[in-house]
Amino acid sequence: MYNSRISGLGFYVPERVVTNDELSQLMETNDAWIRERTGIEQRRYADPAHDTTTSMGVRAAQMAIERAGLGPEDIDFVVFATLSPDYYFPGPGVLVQRDLGLRTVGAVDIRNQCSGFVYGVSLADQYVKTGMYKHVLVIGSELHSKGLDMTTRGRGVSVIFGDGAGAAVLSREEDPTRGILSTHLHSEGQHAEELSLLAPGMGKRWVNDILRDNDPEDTSYYPYMNGQFVFKNAVVRFSEVIMEGLKANGLKATDIDMLIPHQANLRISQFIQQKFGLSDEQVYNNIMQYGNTTAASIPIALTEAWEKGKVAEGDLVVLAAFGSGFTWGSAIIRW
Ligand code: COA
Repeated sequence: MYNSRISGLGFYVPERVVTNDELSQLMETNDAWIRERTGIEQRRYADPAHDTTTSMGVRAAQMAIERAGLGPEDIDFVVFATLSPDYYFPGPGVLVQRDLGLRTVGAVDIRNQCSGFVYGVSLADQYVKTGMYKHVLVIGSELHSKGLDMTTRGRGVSVIFGDGAGAAVLSREEDPTRGILSTHLHSEGQHAEELSLLAPGMGKRWVNDILRDNDPEDTSYYPYMNGQFVFKNAVVRFSEVIMEGLKANGLKATDIDMLIPHQANLRISQFIQQKFGLSDEQVYNNIMQYGNTTAASIPIALTEAWEKGKVAEGDLVVLAAFGSGFTWGSAIIRW
């Protein structure tokens, strides 16, 4: 048995900055409401002529592979987490295999929304731990802006989300005290529809149904979120899964050097920070600049934190996520 460690990190966000004021030209919202409820000041929107979920993921991955001191030929497996794939099928994992010119390695797509990256890290960790693969590429990427309801009807959801991608390479680590110490994953499908996008899907409404009905009131192909219910569940599950991870390793909240929470809402992050008695320096937040980028939020935040020297060798780094499904998880890492 080996451990796995994060050997390289990268991220990519599109150039176009969209401020809260810009959104208020499209729908009845305002900068004060968005800042106060979510902490978000701006987000990035992809240029649909150039950026796709896959292309953004590829750019983040290229950076991560290079920083790991590796080349595309070294990657043994691809894990791609997204809720906004380029195609209904095939998933973006195989497109990364093609666009990065990887060997004909396996590629898997993860459908766990905001928890997607933590699930991806967990999956990759198992492959590396068992010795099956030496270097696994994990990508989280989202292109939300194309699929949001940009009218007042959709404002409760649309103002929150942004586009971007982050990536990590997980590599074999011989030192058992270093790297990913453990991961903890959960789901509660009872609340599946509370944060969801139901169509097109074979369960409710396929494209044929949407075209046939041509109903301007049909919102089934826009994301739906029961905001307050999600918020209440998020704060509980975030706390539980961080605690579970610490306990599993005989650690306490005071051992945490850096917590990277999924960037769902600054108020959720602040609640967790307070609950665990962490200082501003011990929690990394960038939702103010990028909004909620779902599967991309943790790898973008982790890469930024690392680039700024906020994550150093020997540090205890905790990743934690909660989102649609509901799904949630944590990863406890000795850097
Ligand atoms: N601008 C202005 N007003 C808005 C608005 C917007 N963008 N979105 C909603 N409102 C209005 C509502 O229509 C409502 O008006 P009403 O009282 O006249 O009916 C009012 O603001 C309050 O709406 P509500 O949905 O109760 O707000 P909230 O305090 O719950 O905040 C969220 C909304 C989405 C910010 C909050 O619920 C949240 O962050 N939830 C968790 C989201 C999350 O983490 N999602 C990702 C999970 S991974």
